[in-house]
Amino acid sequence: MTERDERPGRTVRKAVIPAAGQGTRFLPATKAMPKEMLPVVDTPAIQYIVEEAVRAGLTDVLMITGRNKRSLEDHFDRNVELEVGLEAKGDSAKLARVQESTDLAQVHYVRQGDPKGLGHAVAVAEQHVGDEPFVVLLGDDIVDARDPLLDAMIAVREEHGGSVVAFMEVPEDQIHLYGCAVAEPTGTTDVVKVSGLVEKPKREEAPSNLAIIGRYLLDPAVFDVLRETPPGKGGEIQLTDALQVLASGDGPGYGVHGVVFRGRRYDTGDKLDYIKAVVRLASERSDIGSDLREWLGEFVASGAGSQD
Ligand code: G1P
Repeated sequence: MTERDERPGRTVRKAVIPAAGQGTRFLPATKAMPKEMLPVVDTPAIQYIVEEAVRAGLTDVLMITGRNKRSLEDHFDRNVELEVGLEAKGDSAKLARVQESTDLAQVHYVRQGDPKGLGHAVAVAEQHVGDEPFVVLLGDDIVDARDPLLDAMIAVREEHGGSVVAFMEVPEDQIHLYGCAVAEPTGTTDVVKVSGLVEKPKREEAPSNLAIIGRYLLDPAVFDVLRETPPGKGGEIQLTDALQVLASGDGPGYGVHGVVFRGRRYDTGDKLDYIKAVVRLASERSDIGSDLREWLGEFVASGAGSQD
């Protein structure tokens, strides 16, 4: 066992969710409301993310927020007035829906101040996280509850130590939208050893088709590296650049593995993907799914929408 493997297996308890972005792709909806509160069917996108963390046993959640994010705090707090009203009406189903987000996890908040990129957002978590491994979940990716990606990542950390990144194989013409890995297979299916990472490479310069999706299990060694990480792509402090140091260097807590995810993931990062995510998730719901699927079939068959 090398020095870098000295601290595998430390329990992962904490999740960090960067939520300070301005959500400009969704203006004007996000003028006065954080994009994390956009509903996916009837549940804010951020609640899916917290639910995923909690399913993996991460009940201590830190949100990195900014201005305009008060409704996030309200959503995970109690709404006594509403609860009393629903109780008086005997509407226990709706009452349960209201209370769901309150009882989920212990949610903490810290403001990013001057947003200087994803690496900077993660660095802001240091005081809360301390010297423990932690998971970062990006809000634009919703991972289906039936495909437990975080459990697989935690198992890889337990075996190898260091940090673990989630990848997805993407077509060549999409790799410029993601962090991209140089990676070699390990003996285990869909687990790779990462030797390099590059943020949003040009198609012709991409070292592979492995794209980082928004789930990272980070060793606290990342904090020292982030302190030394200069602004990169887009003038922002990139988490990918800090991971490149951890993947290619040597030291306690260094080393990066990857889990290649082949499950269901819903991107809510831009308008079209967001609408697809809403339709896919709604069409599986027991309350409205079958009506929606029937209507969708008729809608498409009628050629509506393509007529003018
Ligand atoms: C961020 C990361 C990128 C990663 C992506 C996943 O980029 O910097 O490496 O592939 O998230 O969603 P963003 O999409 O925030 O520009």
